Amino acid sequence: MSFVRNAWYVAGWSTDFGDDLVPLTLLAQNIVVFRCSDGQLAALEDRCPHRLLPLSKGKRIGDTIQCGYHGMTFDAGGQCVRVPGQSNLPTSAYVDSFPVLERHGIVFIWMGDAEKADTALAFDMPELSEDGWHLHHGDKLHIKANYLNVAENLVDPAHVSFVHPTTLGNAASENVPVHVKTADEAIVAWRWIRDAEPIGFFKQFGGFDGNVDRWHYYYLHLPSTAVIDFRSADAALELPEEERNKGVRIFALHFVTPVTEDYTIDHWMHLRNTALGDDAASEQMDAMFRVAFAEDKSILEAIHEEEQRPQKRKPIRIAIDKGPNVYRKRIRDRIEAEATDDLGEPVSPVFVQHD
Ligand code: FES
Ligand SMILES: [Fe+2]
Repeated sequence: MSFVRNAWYVAGWSTDFGDDLVPLTLLAQNIVVFRCSDGQLAALEDRCPHRLLPLSKGKRIGDTIQCGYHGMTFDAGGQCVRVPGQSNLPTSAYVDSFPVLERHGIVFIWMGDAEKADTALAFDMPELSEDGWHLHHGDKLHIKANYLNVAENLVDPAHVSFVHPTTLGNAASENVPVHVKTADEAIVAWRWIRDAEPIGFFKQFGGFDGNVDRWHYYYLHLPSTAVIDFRSADAALELPEEERNKGVRIFALHFVTPVTEDYTIDHWMHLRNTALGDDAASEQMDAMFRVAFAEDKSILEAIHEEEQRPQKRKPIRIAIDKGPNVYRKRIRDRIEAEATDDLGEPVSPVFVQHD
């Protein structure tokens, strides 16, 4: 398995969940989500402990779910509260429940050990709470690919010139070097393209006539949240790097959730410092993002199919792969640390070796 378990994963937007039982798969586990009468979300293992019928095929009764097979009933914490035909409730009659956090209209589910579910570990950024920013929840892009390939694509500025020629990139950036910093919690890759024609996105939303300085910063937070900070400013301003807040600035946020090893959902949204409160602009930006992300989807699905075929040799790595390489190493380290945590403290040695 290539999943980090102790992390908050995005299950959808707040508007996706109401009274209905919503079945989801995260990290290859089936979950059923519903909103209780007090407004809190409940996330339960979607599998009755009796004959394993998914609870999402049952019926909601108040803040409980009644299994659709023999009617065992479970509360929002996963405890069985009724077994039809008997008065005692076996202690084994429960389903797992998962911690849920809702913030900025985003629903996060903690997939690991419940006692480690610290809300401070869920993704956040100051601009999500500050004035002067417009947050717009976008779509969920379903991709038949492993989540690591999807996340890796989001710390890879070099593909933009080739994969997204009409929206997020153009030929001006093909040979501009990519900078990478891996010292902090988030891996960041970036590049500046000076004095070049604006890309399609900023032609439409930046109101630029002449050449611009454009920069893209790609932040990848483990396990799989990406923030792409891309901006443009009039090239005549010759803006230094530290004053880049002055430009038209858009953050594209991608919450990449592994469904299975072969299937991923990229929940994307954006945050912008222009066209505040303008719903028509949100729709137009979504339309452009959809074009760009469909281009990524088609590349990633083709790669995933190719990865399933027999390989004669390992894929080669080139200079632009620094960010992705560090990312994969950190994921491997996290998975290994979780696996060794489960083994408990090391036992004292019983063998003494004499050479
Ligand atoms: S399978 Fe759920 S009560 Fe029997
Ligand atoms: Fe892309």
